[in-house]
Amino acid sequence: MPPNSRLPGFGKMGPFQRLEALRDGGLLTAEELRLLASPEPTAQSPGENVCLTLPVGLSLAPNFRINGVDRVVPMVTEEASVVAGAARVAGLLRAGAGIEAVAGERLLGGQILWRWEGAWGDLARLTEPLREQLIHRVNLRHTALLQAGGGLRTLSWRAGPGPGLAVLDLVAHTGDAMGAHLLDRLAQEVSDELAQVLPGRAVTGIVSNRPVGRAARAVARVPVADLARAGRSGAEVAADVEVLCRWAVQDEFRRPTHLKGALNGVFAVLRAFAQDDRAVAASLVSTAQADPGAVLPRWRVEEDLLLGEFSMPLPVGITGLALDRPPWSILGRLAGVVRATDLEELAVAVGLTQNLAALQTLVSEGIVRGHGVLHARRGRGQC
Ligand code: MEV
Repeated sequence: MPPNSRLPGFGKMGPFQRLEALRDGGLLTAEELRLLASPEPTAQSPGENVCLTLPVGLSLAPNFRINGVDRVVPMVTEEASVVAGAARVAGLLRAGAGIEAVAGERLLGGQILWRWEGAWGDLARLTEPLREQLIHRVNLRHTALLQAGGGLRTLSWRAGPGPGLAVLDLVAHTGDAMGAHLLDRLAQEVSDELAQVLPGRAVTGIVSNRPVGRAARAVARVPVADLARAGRSGAEVAADVEVLCRWAVQDEFRRPTHLKGALNGVFAVLRAFAQDDRAVAASLVSTAQADPGAVLPRWRVEEDLLLGEFSMPLPVGITGLALDRPPWSILGRLAGVVRATDLEELAVAVGLTQNLAALQTLVSEGIVRGHGVLHARRGRGQC
């Protein structure tokens, strides 16, 4: 059960004092404090040719209420204003009953490029009678995935990138896995099966980062009056936030920066949970290429509330993450992350929150005064 997320004031404390304050506030046990303060030199970094590991700050953002559950959100970011903004606006959204988030469908695609001198339709015709049996046989090799609700779902042929080439699209439910390794394996296994019954041969098989299925989505509301800031009324701030959202939809120069405000939060969460953030970036680019507006967070005024929504594909997973060992056992408990769907919901909710933090600052004190203070405190000359 995640704890109440209200943290004691961190003020000018050092990192260890902050952990002690979390313990004193009942958010960490004494044993968890010991583990976080002196992590055992257990995990070898999974990278190649690792010569040293870099110290990266992990921050905790309080005040989040997502799907009715209080959470403390772990964030890894070098941008000082991000965590403060997230915590501040999470507090505002609490007053509007918090954030509601729904994970995506957890479907991921894979592809097999097949060389065959005939028409792709012939491959489809030959595969059709075997298809269900083939899917069943391949799934039997992945019992843990089946137990987590996952497995290979569909196979469909289409024309390839030139004569003599066809593409077989695979779609699988990835359960709690991020899915790239899984789809690579499924593509190989399907290729091996097909090689026995079809003419031609597989050129290669690989995961696809083009999202399939519904993306993760967060919605939130905040009383307009609560948005007052830096001498501007809540109504003025809310109206200008709505204008900035329309600006992002219409202006391709503004659009990526509007999105970047949300990604500051999303990627800080992904880093804290050691995710493949390049896969998330690749699927985001793919979605945005097809429909630039599909991944833009938006806010609109409805009577005395400001309503926001944000949707993006989040191919994340927890199967490679040691959620049963520190630090992730502790971070997972604080943030309420048990399943991959929890992590999707957390990341998209923090993204929406972060976007509002940026927009509210932009239309009130301005980014230089708002964020510059924190950067100056850290001794950084520039943003
Ligand atoms: C800075 O990292 C992010 C912002 O530029 C986002 C925005 O302009 O909406 C403040």
